[in-house]
Amino acid sequence: MLTPHPGDRPAREVLGHGEAPGKVILLGEHSVVYGHPAIAAALSRGVRVSIESNDEGPTFRAPRWGVATVLADAPDVAPLGVALERVRRAVAPGLTRVAAVAEDRLPLGAGLGSSAALTVATARAFAAAAGTTLTAERLTQVCHLAEQVFHGNPSGVDQATVVHGGILRFQRPPGGTPDLRALKPPQPMTLVVALMRPHVGTKEAVEGLRARRERHKRTFEALLHELGALAQDGVALLEQADWAGLGERMDLAHGLLHALGVSSDDLDQLVRLGRNHGALGAKLTGAGIGGAVVMLTDGDLDHTRRLVLALRAHGAQAFSTEVV
Ligand code: MEV
Repeated sequence: MLTPHPGDRPAREVLGHGEAPGKVILLGEHSVVYGHPAIAAALSRGVRVSIESNDEGPTFRAPRWGVATVLADAPDVAPLGVALERVRRAVAPGLTRVAAVAEDRLPLGAGLGSSAALTVATARAFAAAAGTTLTAERLTQVCHLAEQVFHGNPSGVDQATVVHGGILRFQRPPGGTPDLRALKPPQPMTLVVALMRPHVGTKEAVEGLRARRERHKRTFEALLHELGALAQDGVALLEQADWAGLGERMDLAHGLLHALGVSSDDLDQLVRLGRNHGALGAKLTGAGIGGAVVMLTDGDLDHTRRLVLALRAHGAQAFSTEVV
C-alpha cells in the first residue's frame, strides 16, 4: 500500500490570529473576590492563538504547554476543551473544522493570567477567523463564560486586565458590575516576576480560603478588608510613582496573604530572597499556594538585573518587565 505523501494532504490554512497579555496582581488578590479593590497590570508577555483549518473538527493544542484536546462542552472533555468550546460557540459557531493552536511566553498555572490570556487570545482569533470584531464588553462576557470553568466564581479582575491592558484599579461590589479605572504612573514601573512551580489552582485556592473564612470569620473579614485598604492606598502611591511606599504595601500584603493561608514555603523563600537583593516590595501574585511572586524594583537596570540573576541562581524562573 502506498503511504500518502505529505504533499497530498491539503495545506492547513491559517484563518486568523489573536493575542492577549498575561497579568500580575500588585495588590488585592483574594480580597477582590469579596468586593474590595485591587490593582493589576498587564504583562508584556502573553499568548498568541492561530486558528487553522483541519479535517477533524474543533481541537486545541499548545505544544509548549504539552496540551492537546478536542473542543466540546461534554463531561468527559478536559476543562480547557470545555472552556474554549464555549468561546468558539459564542464567537464563531460556524467554524467547526478548525484547530486553535497556542504559542505562549507565559508559564501555565503560575498566577500570571495564563487562562484569561488564553481565552481572550482564542476569542480574538476566532473573531478574526470569522471576520467579526468583538467589543471589549462582549470579549469580557465571552471570557467570563470560559473562566467559570476554571475558577467557579471569578471576580473578573484577570479578564478585565487582559482585555483592557495597562494598569487597572478593579472593584466588583458583591452582585454588582465591575468598576474599572485605568491608572497611569508618571514613569514606568519595573517589576520582577519569579516562580518555582505551578500553583494548586485558582479554584482550589479561592475555595480553601472561603472554607477557612467560615471558621474564622472575624479575623478573615478584617484581613480581607485590610488587603483592600492596602490596594486603595496603592492607587495614589502608584500615581505619584512612590515606589518605596508601594513596595511597603506589597510587603504588608504578602504577610496578610500568608495569614490567610495562600502562601507556601517556596513563595516565602522567593519573597525573602527578593527583599535581601534589593526589591522595594515583594509578594505572591494571583491565587498563591505555589505560582509566582511579583517584586517592585527602583528601576535601576543593574539592580534589576542582579535581582533576576539571584533568583535564577536559586533555581527560579525569573524575568523583569516594565509596566506603564
Ligand atoms: C486570581 O488571579 C485572583 C484571585 O483573586 C481570584 C479572582 O479574583 O477571581 C485569587
